[in-house]
Amino acid sequence: MADKLPNDLFLPEEKKAWFNHDRFGMFIHWGIYALAARHEWVKSREEIDDAGYQKYFDHFDPDLYDPREWARRAREAGMKYVVLTARHHDGFCLWDSKVTDYKATRTAYGRDLLKPFVEAFRAEGLKIGFYYSLPDWHHPDFTIDMYHPLRNRENVAELNAGRDMKRYAQYLRDQVTELLTGYGQIDIIWFDFSYPGRTYKGLPGKGAADWESLELLKLVRRLAPDIIVNNRLDIETEVPDVLTPEQYTPRTPPTINGRPVTWEMCQTFSGSWGYYRDEDTWKSPEQLLQILIDGVSLGGNLLMNVGPTGRGTFDQRAIDALEAYAGWMKLHSRAIYGAGRSDFEAPDGCRLTQRGNRLYLHIYNWPNRFVHLDGLAGRVRYAQLLHDASEVKWIGASDDPHFVPPVGETTLTLDLPVKKPDVIVPVVELFLKDA
Ligand code: GLC
Repeated sequence: MADKLPNDLFLPEEKKAWFNHDRFGMFIHWGIYALAARHEWVKSREEIDDAGYQKYFDHFDPDLYDPREWARRAREAGMKYVVLTARHHDGFCLWDSKVTDYKATRTAYGRDLLKPFVEAFRAEGLKIGFYYSLPDWHHPDFTIDMYHPLRNRENVAELNAGRDMKRYAQYLRDQVTELLTGYGQIDIIWFDFSYPGRTYKGLPGKGAADWESLELLKLVRRLAPDIIVNNRLDIETEVPDVLTPEQYTPRTPPTINGRPVTWEMCQTFSGSWGYYRDEDTWKSPEQLLQILIDGVSLGGNLLMNVGPTGRGTFDQRAIDALEAYAGWMKLHSRAIYGAGRSDFEAPDGCRLTQRGNRLYLHIYNWPNRFVHLDGLAGRVRYAQLLHDASEVKWIGASDDPHFVPPVGETTLTLDLPVKKPDVIVPVVELFLKDA
């Protein structure tokens, strides 16, 4: 880890207010690995050298690329910001970078992919983020390390002679400068990733000293003072802009030294981030929604990933997943935007989110008629199902001599319809009395 940094290199809470409010973003992993269609790490996993990987560059021609359609689908799904891989670990750049030829404008497609992307997503009202890889398996100065495609070559030492990580760190700064000065205001920069302390066959990982993270961060702050920077630069701080748990839901809200921090989980529809044709592990609509709701109920955001195809399209499975979000968010977004953790305790099989004096009960397991809310007796003014604004009544022990559950003085018992409403996760909206 690098030295501890002054807190003023990170954003004060008020500059992250939009992010904490918006809760839901779209991650997009797109590059020439979409042609291999078997994971964005294919070059490393299959130990493909530059010559072997060249066919994906040579055949990259996303003729159906229409970022306006991507942006529309993101907005309809309820996503409020987007983070696109401007460059992933294979080093291929979606923009017309001045410091490399390994870029979209030199492919058969021949055009910059980033400008129209930014314009389209801005036009739909989304905030803009760039993912930028710290490793680069194509750059001639990037030393062969534990994840590099050439890691198992006999002559690694020889191949590493002449590679210069100092020059590479300057390349990172040059490219980040292009990204933060050429596309208007960028709201998020998502660096990925650091792996110091790991080794493979004596080959080291990489971290802050390799990326020159402190200088990189200072540069970012100078060029874009309000930008949110994620926490993968290998820089130790008590106040990161945002923590980024990946592919799991934390059990409790993440904290640093006992203090709550802004956080965002990133997740996939099916496991890999880049387009993977044969992957058969797509999450169900219930799972997709529960990931979002679980995160918000713990006070966090969700960055949900789409891996577009080599033609530049979202495939049907991705469209279906986005539509599951769209259908639900259309009716339930006010249980998500501006909402977060509640101090009340959720009953079994449910989650709570809260925004001011509105409490949202997300019911994963539809109960047989009653749901019991401890601590809420006498605290609620009105309750309704959120999707159709139909009243939900509650009952007390005295209302019915046959009423069995010993609910206790402080428990509010909602009387729900026997049949589960026809939405993926039904939500009861409870209007709390002023404290
Ligand atoms: C990982 C992977 C990567 C993906 C990222 C998203 O660090 O290297 O392929 O882009 O996580 O969080």
